[in-house]
Amino acid sequence: MRGVVLAGGLGSRLDPLTRIVNKHLLPVYDKPMIYYPIQALVNAGIEDIMIVTGGRNAGDFLRLLGNGKDFGLKHLDYTYQEGEGGIAEALGLTEHFSRGEKLCVILGDNIIEKNIAAAAQDFRRQEQGAKILLKKVPDPERFGVPKIDGERILSIEEKPDLPQSNYAVTGIYMYDDTVFDKIEGLVRSARGELEITDVNNRFIAEGTMTWGELAGWWTDAGTVESLRRASNMVAETGANLI
Ligand code: G1P
Repeated sequence: MRGVVLAGGLGSRLDPLTRIVNKHLLPVYDKPMIYYPIQALVNAGIEDIMIVTGGRNAGDFLRLLGNGKDFGLKHLDYTYQEGEGGIAEALGLTEHFSRGEKLCVILGDNIIEKNIAAAAQDFRRQEQGAKILLKKVPDPERFGVPKIDGERILSIEEKPDLPQSNYAVTGIYMYDDTVFDKIEGLVRSARGELEITDVNNRFIAEGTMTWGELAGWWTDAGTVESLRRASNMVAETGANLI
């Protein structure tokens, strides 16, 4: 299975912190933010990893990460996203890297306490389709929110005014390579982006989406408040525990 870390965008919700430094290079406790999602993939046994960067200082990623020695990797792949076209557009740029393979995508600002090894193993055995990981949160309206009926996930709404459950769709997604065909047919949302939630809804409509509940704490780190929380939680318990 291939791994993809999405680390593009301008990080405008963290301005002025992100005027000079890319959001994913900001410190979360004792490491740059992007270390955590890379480690999450490595802990799931994924060694072929592509980083999608963008914005003004994309070269910083290469200087920081090189070939991934800090993670025990021999090589890292990189690609560049122009502008702010959304998560699904960024993922589409990795088609040449992942065609013919399953892939595990993680957003560069998502940090987890534990690991996704078991979910990744389940997905390796899943015949086709996609798998997402959900987490109960106090503020679902900030995220993609699933409507669930027992084991079945019926649909996902992006940042709904009236959330249909207390779950957030975390920024950890597993796909087969039909994801690239699904991205191709997408239409831009009101905020001008290709939405990952629209991709996920296509798998749901096809009947090939499964889901699991993430163990341990999970947070994004894309706002001032969540960045502070991420640092505190890493300091208290550590992250990416095996
Ligand atoms: C994105 C996704 C959202 C998901 C979240 C997880 O939101 O669009 O569905 O729940 O990541 O971090 P964003 O942080 O880009 O607003």
